[in-house]
Amino acid sequence: MDTVRLGIVGLGNMGKAHLANIRAGKVEGLRVTCLCESVGTLPKLLEGESAYTDVNAMIHSGKIDAILICTPHYSHTSIGIEALKTGLHVLVEKPISVHKADCERLIAAHTDKKKIFAAMFNMRTNAVFKKVKDLIDSGELGEVRRVHWEVTNWFRTNYYYATGGWRGTWKGEGGGVLMNQCPHNLDLFQWLFGMPQRVRGFCQFGRFHEIEVEDDVTAVFQYDNGTTATFVTSTGEAPGRNVLEISAEKGRLTVKDGTHIHFQRNRQPMSEFCMTAEAAFAMPESWHMDIPVDNSGGQHVEILQNFAGAILKGEKLLSPAEEGIRSVELANAILLSTWKDATIELPMAASDYETILKDKSENSTFQKTKVAAKATSDDFAKSFR
Ligand SMILES: NC(=O)c1ccc[n+]([C@@H]2O[C@H](COP(=O)([O-])OP(=O)(O)OC[C@H]3O[C@@H](n4cnc5c(N)ncnc54)[C@H](O)[C@@H]3O)[C@@H](O)[C@H]2O)c1
Repeated sequence: MDTVRLGIVGLGNMGKAHLANIRAGKVEGLRVTCLCESVGTLPKLLEGESAYTDVNAMIHSGKIDAILICTPHYSHTSIGIEALKTGLHVLVEKPISVHKADCERLIAAHTDKKKIFAAMFNMRTNAVFKKVKDLIDSGELGEVRRVHWEVTNWFRTNYYYATGGWRGTWKGEGGGVLMNQCPHNLDLFQWLFGMPQRVRGFCQFGRFHEIEVEDDVTAVFQYDNGTTATFVTSTGEAPGRNVLEISAEKGRLTVKDGTHIHFQRNRQPMSEFCMTAEAAFAMPESWHMDIPVDNSGGQHVEILQNFAGAILKGEKLLSPAEEGIRSVELANAILLSTWKDATIELPMAASDYETILKDKSENSTFQKTKVAAKATSDDFAKSFR
């Protein structure tokens, strides 16, 4: 095989964006042969591809080798399982599923390891975060002692939540900022620092918007080695900011807006200095340095290219879908902690969370306002960046 025949399901914002990139020839080895969309907008989009309204018909058509899943969150599990069982390669948008139990079901369906199963964690291609990972993994920072990530620049208007009936609801989206915007950040968090052993979350629901899910979050993560971390996010704070601070033995690394890395490097590791200095108020000598990074990475196109490369040439995946369970578990644990007003030990019980979420979805009395109902997904597409 020298070209992968791809089917895209869900031709909303992301589906269309991926389609445009592939049609523009930005991804070598991928050819879109089929499109599937459940609302009637498909005919306008077609350029010779086979069209489907039923995803199972596309999966079993024999016209695709791989599927790109760009539908709302809950259906990632059912579509992904059917595609994997049918022997397709699968690339699923983030989050891979809404809750840990569904992640486990989806991952369990990946029995044929010759089939490539990847997730769209495009921020892993960001050169800044790749550099931060390199600095941690190579020991340049020394042991990490504390992390603070405040990512409050996910500002969204009430109008945003009004577009697309599934947004801002337990039943449709399965969560708010943690489930829609932050899978990227939580994935990077676990990619850089590993999974914590305990999570305490403080979420506020519909604090800034007419939604029933969380739009304001403060979480504390604890690791067995004593490292602590805070993760703060919101879709209602403006101007927000995106600052990741890592306090490590060899200094303090600050990443601003995902674009700049500053390192205040200790000449001597802090714990060593603390135990050996013979002056009460001494501080380790430190130097300021800006760490250059060359670009922002290939983002979605690089993940698509890597997916094709993994299928055609056996390239190593940048974001295996199996790893997507970790960001979902972090998000679930933060919410579960809030609901239970308790610390959650990881790994957490998947069924516990699933039961509560199901209850919230099925017994919700939340209704979007009339004003909200006027917004359409076309409005969303116009404002999408
Ligand atoms: N990686 C990123 O940077 C990024 C950015 C935005 C959204 N996303 C993710 O992409 C996914 C889609 O988000 P979006 O913003 O494009 O949503 P959207 O609402 O704009 O599009 C979803 C589309 O899927 C269609 N659909 C739903 N169920 C279907 C089914 N069973 N069969 C066929 N079509 C179906 C809907 O009609 C809609 O057109 C979500 O998982 C979201 O989190 C990723």
